[in-house]
Amino acid sequence: MTSTMIKLPGYLIFNLIYDGSRTQVYRGQQKSNQQPVAIKILKSDYPTFTELLHFRNQYAIAKNLTLPGVIQPYALANYRNGFALVMEDMGGVSLKDYTTEQPLELGEFLHIAIQIAQSLEGLYQNRVIHKDVKPHNILINPDTKQVKLIDFSISSLLPRENQVLQNPSGLEGTLAYISPEQTGRMNRGIDYRTDFYSLGVTFYQLLTGSYSPKRGESSHPQAGERYHSQVNG
Ligand SMILES: Nc1ncnc2c1ncn2[C@@H]1O[C@H](COP(=O)(O)OP(=O)(O)O)[C@@H](O)[C@H]1O
Ligand SMILES: [Mg+2]
Repeated sequence: MTSTMIKLPGYLIFNLIYDGSRTQVYRGQQKSNQQPVAIKILKSDYPTFTELLHFRNQYAIAKNLTLPGVIQPYALANYRNGFALVMEDMGGVSLKDYTTEQPLELGEFLHIAIQIAQSLEGLYQNRVIHKDVKPHNILINPDTKQVKLIDFSISSLLPRENQVLQNPSGLEGTLAYISPEQTGRMNRGIDYRTDFYSLGVTFYQLLTGSYSPKRGESSHPQAGERYHSQVNG
């Protein structure tokens, strides 16, 4: 893992904080002003067109949002054959990691849940649909309990004249969390309510700590049946 440390001009890189199948996230510092940053890169030497598009998209959409509940992107730098997304470091860990050991106690859940709901309301006011709301894409600072959204890779900005996105482009998002209309298998556009559907599944997991449904079950039983009928026909 030590050999995987990256180099990016203008930044000091401290440590790897996430090593996924497609991306890595590092903590570091901007040299010019000592600002703490988180830096996300694509692991592949030859990123696909879609991966590059997702990086541009997350930068472009989040850059235009100045909401306290959204992690601010600072820069989209060229890195190898792709990009490095340089963003705000709030000292956060994902809500997935934060709750995997044990579910949240009710008071803490409410404190967190209200913040996420407010962030989604902010997105709605800015005509942005996140489309991938889940505990992995929400950060919490374990000390302050402040919560912020990340990962606008597949988010959409709605046109001013229309509050509905027609013809969702195939299956995007994470199956266990997405609304039936977001599967692309319904003759229906999607709007801000798709994020609130995912928020419901997220709340269920935060309260139960349950992330791994047994075979034939879902962490959200009704949703499970619905995915089955929507996706498998
Ligand atoms: N700004 C950040 N601060 C701390 N951790 C982060 C930050 N951004 C991402 N992460 C961590 O990296 C993980 C993957 O980041 P994400 O943007 O969701 O990438 P992907 O597109 O691979 O899903 C998150 O679940 C979180 O654990
Ligand atoms: Mg993510």
